[in-house]
Amino acid sequence: MRMVDLIEKKRDGGELTKEEINFIIEGYTSESIPDYQMSSFLMSVFFKGMTAEETANMTLAMVNSGDQIDLSAIEGIKVDKHSTGGVGDTTTIVLAPLVAAVGVPVAKLSGRGLGHTGGTVDKFESIPGFRSEIEADQFINQVNEVKVAVTGPTGNLTPADKKIYGLRDVTATVNSIPLMASSIMSKKIASGSDAIVLDVKVGAGAFMKDVESAKELAHAMVEIGKNVGRDTMAVISDMDQPLGFAIGNVLEVKEAIDTLRGEGPKDLKELCLTLGSKMVVLAKHAETVEEAREMLEEVIANGKALEKFKEFVIAQGGDASVIDDPFKLARAQYEIPVLAKEDGYVAEIEADSIGTAAMILGAGRATKDSVVDLAVGLMLHKKIGDEVKKGDTIVTIYSNRENVDDVIERIYESYRFSLTKVADPVLVHAEVH
Ligand code: URA
Ligand code: CA
Repeated sequence: MRMVDLIEKKRDGGELTKEEINFIIEGYTSESIPDYQMSSFLMSVFFKGMTAEETANMTLAMVNSGDQIDLSAIEGIKVDKHSTGGVGDTTTIVLAPLVAAVGVPVAKLSGRGLGHTGGTVDKFESIPGFRSEIEADQFINQVNEVKVAVTGPTGNLTPADKKIYGLRDVTATVNSIPLMASSIMSKKIASGSDAIVLDVKVGAGAFMKDVESAKELAHAMVEIGKNVGRDTMAVISDMDQPLGFAIGNVLEVKEAIDTLRGEGPKDLKELCLTLGSKMVVLAKHAETVEEAREMLEEVIANGKALEKFKEFVIAQGGDASVIDDPFKLARAQYEIPVLAKEDGYVAEIEADSIGTAAMILGAGRATKDSVVDLAVGLMLHKKIGDEVKKGDTIVTIYSNRENVDDVIERIYESYRFSLTKVADPVLVHAEVH
């Protein structure tokens, strides 16, 4: 087989066989296929797409490019949740202990932040002492005993995806449904959960800008999951504006603690209950989502969810006293309010632009090697539909540098106001089974 023939076949809209796809993925992982041929192939896929069968084969080839985690030593149905990436998406920090508090085993593999999107591992590591690089046997024991463990990107999981993702990032081929679906699902399958709840984000702050393409991505992923025997479903949720109020690592941990107490932002709490109840049902701890939702609301109300968070933080080496006393978390040197210039209503908050504003403060990574400043970030005081009077604080900037004119300018550019109230945005657009 020759790579050039396979590029040509895809360029002309042909359908590749399983053997041909294996040849490409194995060859690129072992470096017998160079970047320039792979780039050309990826661009062909970008324009010509892939059938469901090709996408499934591509996913399996990437799973087989490295190790797979064996979670069979964990009792019960293991459920994972995955978000396609957003801004200020605090859901995992809330969901992991929340779902574990009703007895569902949560074995969570999480990533670090890149670009305008944050990463859950960075967020957890803003708790002093918290270790996310834990050994496989500790990980499994901890899920059995505490019901929840989180680990960062480990060892040799889907090396093909790592290499291909790096290449897509610099060749304008990220935004392709088969490439995204196979990338995300290969990691989920390799990390061993029995069931998967996908949170597909749609809107300005997400990869998918409209509900139709988000649904298409969700269908592609659900299909792959089912084909390999993993019970998979997807929720399409809004990322037209950032989720919750906090963007930045320490700020989001505080926001998650508030939410586990039953006090957090309404949209964050609602999305956590929606996704969490699906996880509980897939784990067969409840028959219906209504029943599951009641279980989750109960552990928030009786304090068990927050207790579970403490237990989990201690198990991972972290200082759980920060949960009762969040002021012990790292604090930024400066708190700078951004004020409304006129009266009106918030009509739009461009999530990607706000995410970038947080990133340039140091809350995220511009490149893989950037160092994250855990204390910095943004708190949004006004969201879409809120009334604003001239002089109100719309955002507080938490910064470790005094001059933040660049950030302020970006925030003003991200917010749009109108004279009349706009409707509250829809949080959950659809479900895909
Ligand atoms: N996240 C991934 O892991 N892969 C993609 O292709 C897009 C988002
Ligand atoms: Ca948030």
